[in-house]
Amino acid sequence: MRAILIGEHGVQSANLIGGEWVRAAGGAGHQVTNPATDAVLAEIPSMGADETRQAIGSARDAWGGWRGRTAADRGALVGLLAGLMRRDADRLARLMTAEQGKPLAEAAGEIEYAASFLDWAGEEGKRLFGDMIPASDASKRILVLRQPVGVAAIITPWNFPSAMITRKLGPALAAGCTAVIKPSELTPLSAIAIGELAVEAGFPPGVVNIVTGDAATIGDAFFDDDRVRKLSFTGSTGVGQKLMAKGAKNLLRLSMELGGHAPFIVFEDADLDKAIAAAVSCKYRNAGQTCICANRFYVQDAIYDRFMSGFAEAVRALKVGEGTGEGVAIGPLINDKAVEKVEKHVADAREKGGRVLVGGERVNIDGLADRFYAPTLIDGMTPEMLLHTEETFGPVAAVRRFTTEDEVVAWANDSEFGLASYFFTRDASRLMRVAEALEYGIVGANDGGPSTAQAPFGGVKHSGFGREGGKYVMDEYTEYKYVSWAL
Ligand code: SIN
Repeated sequence: MRAILIGEHGVQSANLIGGEWVRAAGGAGHQVTNPATDAVLAEIPSMGADETRQAIGSARDAWGGWRGRTAADRGALVGLLAGLMRRDADRLARLMTAEQGKPLAEAAGEIEYAASFLDWAGEEGKRLFGDMIPASDASKRILVLRQPVGVAAIITPWNFPSAMITRKLGPALAAGCTAVIKPSELTPLSAIAIGELAVEAGFPPGVVNIVTGDAATIGDAFFDDDRVRKLSFTGSTGVGQKLMAKGAKNLLRLSMELGGHAPFIVFEDADLDKAIAAAVSCKYRNAGQTCICANRFYVQDAIYDRFMSGFAEAVRALKVGEGTGEGVAIGPLINDKAVEKVEKHVADAREKGGRVLVGGERVNIDGLADRFYAPTLIDGMTPEMLLHTEETFGPVAAVRRFTTEDEVVAWANDSEFGLASYFFTRDASRLMRVAEALEYGIVGANDGGPSTAQAPFGGVKHSGFGREGGKYVMDEYTEYKYVSWAL
């Protein structure tokens, strides 16, 4: 059964529980719409606590058989899912652009990025080595086993509808866990499409489950059920804090990938062309709706004017439009609330003396929704501005001039967030010094795009904890068991 058809009117779709495509009791559902056009794409189930418990039960029932398979066997299925995503990349990218709004080229890039997490995890599962430790008692042996934690609940956001799923699902499955995925209400179609491909790949019923609907209802069902042994969440810091409190009840293992507020520093000895190109891609990717996108730019005195003129020229060239349009770089924001937040930040910056060099307003496009915001560049950012203290999550870059390295490192670290940070310099000593001094989980040194499946992605401070990617993510889905063996 193909659960999703995006036709003229959209169609009903279903959720995956225990290998079956099911609808909510009483037919409860909600509509998924295209943020660029407001067209209804599909009607999807609004699952309640009962259906969520059913999904958890299916995952728990499937766990014994799944963990009993060899890592190579599990890895092969995870790799097969990656291959099916690549086979259907065009269809999946179009689906993503329709429900999320990002330009088609970015959506296609995300499908490849999503598949790369599956590839990596499928292989990494084969390297879940234990240990044998020399004991202090000659009659004993000490063994350390690595075992899957059990049922993993996966809660994902709307800004990366496919990659944020596979970044969690791949390692969970490869480690021998089973999963219940709860995608964002705004972008559930990409998740359901992954579920369809998981069925096609041949995952046993119950290994991968998907429930859509109200976040609080489904989330509470996860927290109330002690068959769930792991919860991995990507979303806002505010929601993450609430989830942590709820997780206390069952001492749930948590991974939290939360908000960011990335500084982007350009030193006077930087390669300016490289820094400008990175500033544009890092800031305006996904219309600035990225946890790791640069939010606060700091540029050193001596090169300030040159940087600003090159940056402004590059920002002016970014084309705004529906994600399917030729050459479009900036799609719509996800909803009205997101646009209002951006407007509030820009108005606040203007009031506090910021000079808008590019953009600074909505872009009206005939026949499309009023959710497009011009790529914006603001000169004269000050610490009092909302842009400087809060995550904007929109296509707005604000820049401040600095004089010394010590000063700018202190400014960069003066934030409750600690996800990603960026800086540009050609001085090798400074490169190491600043990389070490920045209080962030991720540092892009002369690099505006550090995300990759091989590396540990995650933050410190209010940006959360836990790491996704590389060998490190496997710790999130496994526990160490100590076996003391007396001969
Ligand atoms: C995010 O916004 O959390 C994901 C960004 C990325 O993986 O590059």
